[in-house]
Amino acid sequence: MAPYRISVNGTEHVVDVLPDTPLLWVLRDSLGLTGTKYACGMALCGACTVHLDGAAVRSCVTPITEATGKIVITIEGLAADSGHPVQKAWIAEEVAQCGYCQSGQIMSAAALLAKKPDPSDADIDAAMAGNICRCGTYQRIRRAIHHAARMPGGTPLGGGLRPPSEPPPGMAPAKPALEPVTYPGGPLEQVVKVPERRGIQ
Ligand code: FES
Ligand code: FES
Repeated sequence: MAPYRISVNGTEHVVDVLPDTPLLWVLRDSLGLTGTKYACGMALCGACTVHLDGAAVRSCVTPITEATGKIVITIEGLAADSGHPVQKAWIAEEVAQCGYCQSGQIMSAAALLAKKPDPSDADIDAAMAGNICRCGTYQRIRRAIHHAARMPGGTPLGGGLRPPSEPPPGMAPAKPALEPVTYPGGPLEQVVKVPERRGIQ
């Protein structure tokens, strides 16, 4: 166990966990942020998607060491009042069915729109391909992304704090930039190495 400092939704936390602890477990179990969901645990479904320095990443395969020193935004921090344009569009288009995949879908959509404010259907399909919905809400997701793109004011990423500076003495240092690799479950551009799978229940 070791202390790691992370910034989540604008608040800095110190968590004492093993270095290969997935960010997902830190968010859910250490910080009580259960809006980010666990499903496959293998970067195959997108249910656990959060933003790490603005990029959509799979928190189930992102070890805490990769999140240290970076800005983490979860569904809870996307907007203070659930008023992010993507969230408004999701409500307007009545996207959710069972809802389990939806926080991951929204985080991926928000990252897409922050980078590409007026995406084509092909852009949406490519960016969202790694987010699986077993209720089959894909058409409504696509409509909601177009809906959000038409909203005035654009679609910023959530949060907004700058990354923490140097860690205090004795604290784990920030890692360098993530290595670009490919997700097995989708085409997102920024991923971290997949740690050995733990005994996740
Ligand atoms: S739970 Fe992380 S991608 Fe499925
Ligand atoms: S809304 Fe049920 S899995 Fe997507």
